Amino acid sequence: MATRIRRDYSLTGVITERAVALDDDRIEERVEATWWHPKISRQDLKALMQRTDRYALWDFGLWIVLLVITGTLAALSWGTWWSIPAFLLYGTIYSSSDARWHECGHGTPFKTRWLNELFYQISSFMTLREAVLWRWSHARHHTHTYVVGLDPEIQVMRPADLVKIALDFFDLRSGPPEVWRIIRHAFGQPNADVRSFVPESELNKMYWSSRVYVGIFVAFGIVSVAVGSFLPMMFIGLPRFYGGWLHQLLGLTQHAGLKENVFDHRQNTRTVYINRVFRYLYLNMNYHIEHHSTPMVPYHALPRLHEAIKDQTPTPYPNLWAVYKEMLPALYKQATQDPDYHIVRELPDDPFAPPIEAQQPITLSTNGHAESLQWVDACDVSDLEENDVIGVNHNGKPYAIYRLAGDQFYASDGLCTHGKTELAGGLVINGCIECPKHNGRFDVQTGKALTHPVKVNLKMYPVEQRRNRLFVYIPD
Ligand code: FES
Repeated sequence: MATRIRRDYSLTGVITERAVALDDDRIEERVEATWWHPKISRQDLKALMQRTDRYALWDFGLWIVLLVITGTLAALSWGTWWSIPAFLLYGTIYSSSDARWHECGHGTPFKTRWLNELFYQISSFMTLREAVLWRWSHARHHTHTYVVGLDPEIQVMRPADLVKIALDFFDLRSGPPEVWRIIRHAFGQPNADVRSFVPESELNKMYWSSRVYVGIFVAFGIVSVAVGSFLPMMFIGLPRFYGGWLHQLLGLTQHAGLKENVFDHRQNTRTVYINRVFRYLYLNMNYHIEHHSTPMVPYHALPRLHEAIKDQTPTPYPNLWAVYKEMLPALYKQATQDPDYHIVRELPDDPFAPPIEAQQPITLSTNGHAESLQWVDACDVSDLEENDVIGVNHNGKPYAIYRLAGDQFYASDGLCTHGKTELAGGLVINGCIECPKHNGRFDVQTGKALTHPVKVNLKMYPVEQRRNRLFVYIPD
């Protein structure tokens, strides 16, 4: 029997120290460039990334209606045996708040930003993920998916803890520590791991958010005591436990049993076909390879993205049974014999497809002056549509050139100041460039960092239109 070596999954452990020791100011840029990206035309990708309120208003509206109906049934049946199925139904729908938390955290379901934020705050509370902490945690998860010592959201660590996996069908192993973490944060006590990914400037916000959560729990606890029944707690807080089974059933399929430390979402992430009801509750997160490879695509467009790139990804699992039939023996083997064991997904013929076109640099020609800044012929005006961005490369450095409505042109550094992702793969919305990785936004005209998680402004460069060509004034 192989020796069982417990890996250090902490974010401040030996593995992380080693990664940090190797760090330099371009490491994030290289890590980002290393990840596999699907090959899809820029136009198709742009169409898939478009925001609309249409689908989310319907889906989120229906979700509220379902909560009200099942909650009413549960309340009316309290004290009878009927309350068991009624609360199970209510708790299952309540726990699908996790999928809403996730989508709204990416800022993609609604076009209207305040609606994203409103549902993000509500669903974060419902799913017991404190809003500030988990926004930063999830950004890190997307940057370093399943990289040991860097990803704070590795759900099944090795050797796999089968008891924990089973108990988490009712959130019994992950839920209590999460509640405890919220309480600790309400008292301003984050641990070193949390400090490693939540910026200092956000800590206070996180403490206050945690205090609000604790305040609501306490209020419901007091009401429960006052009325001499724990019925109020059955509607807020507890549903995430007794109704958590579907969340765990679907969530495990995302990454469990797959390869760690690989820069290819096709090998550490799954796509599985599931029925329409589950897809609705899960907001299409079963298309998880698609989601990780292009997180800016809203949930409602993931099936279309899947169709567009499925010849580049491993064959999707036909159903949940197919996943579990392969995953459970793999987890058992990890738990009992070989912690290094993992499932290997067969890749299509071209496993190293080049980056998407939108991120491929266009070669610039220079005017040959030896000044430190110079006007460089960047691209044709017709390369850009209105509200568009393209990437160009000069002397090995990427730049982004933007066109807003009314033929206004702007240029900036090509990499996001947060995680060094190519902004040319992003979306121009309302005068902002939205980063394709974690959806941070910058003002295209000023470079100002506007929304989470970006904090540092973009460096901007002058742009000049000369006939049908655009010139940018950039370092030689
Ligand atoms: S890389 Fe994180 S927002 Fe751009």
